[in-house]
Amino acid sequence: MSYYRHHVFFCTNQREPGADRPSCASCGAADAQAHAKKRIKALGLAGAGEVRVNKAGCLDRCEEGPVLVVYPEGVWYTYVDNSDIDEIIDQHLVGGEPVERLRI
Ligand code: FES
Repeated sequence: MSYYRHHVFFCTNQREPGADRPSCASCGAADAQAHAKKRIKALGLAGAGEVRVNKAGCLDRCEEGPVLVVYPEGVWYTYVDNSDIDEIIDQHLVGGEPVERLRI
C-alpha cells in the first residue's frame, strides 16, 4: 500500500528567457502548487495515508504544460487557474474520479 493515498507533483520548473522549450513556472505553476497545498491542508487531507502535494522539476511534458501528475494512478493534468485545481482536488483527490476534461 502507498504511503500516501494520492501523491501529487506539480512541475514548477523555470527556464531562462529565450529557452527553446516552455516552462510551467511561466504559467503560474508555483501559485497553483501553493493553492493546492493550502486547500488540501484546509480540508484535513494532508499527511500519511492521505494526500501530499509536492513541487517537482521538469517532468518533460513542457509543451503540454503547466502540468501536474497524480500517483499512484499516474494521471496527468494541465490546468489554467485555481478553479481547475479545485476541480482536480474535489473530483479526483476527494471523489476518486479523474477530471477527464483536464487530462493530458
Ligand atoms: S517545464 Fe514543466 S514539464 Fe517541463
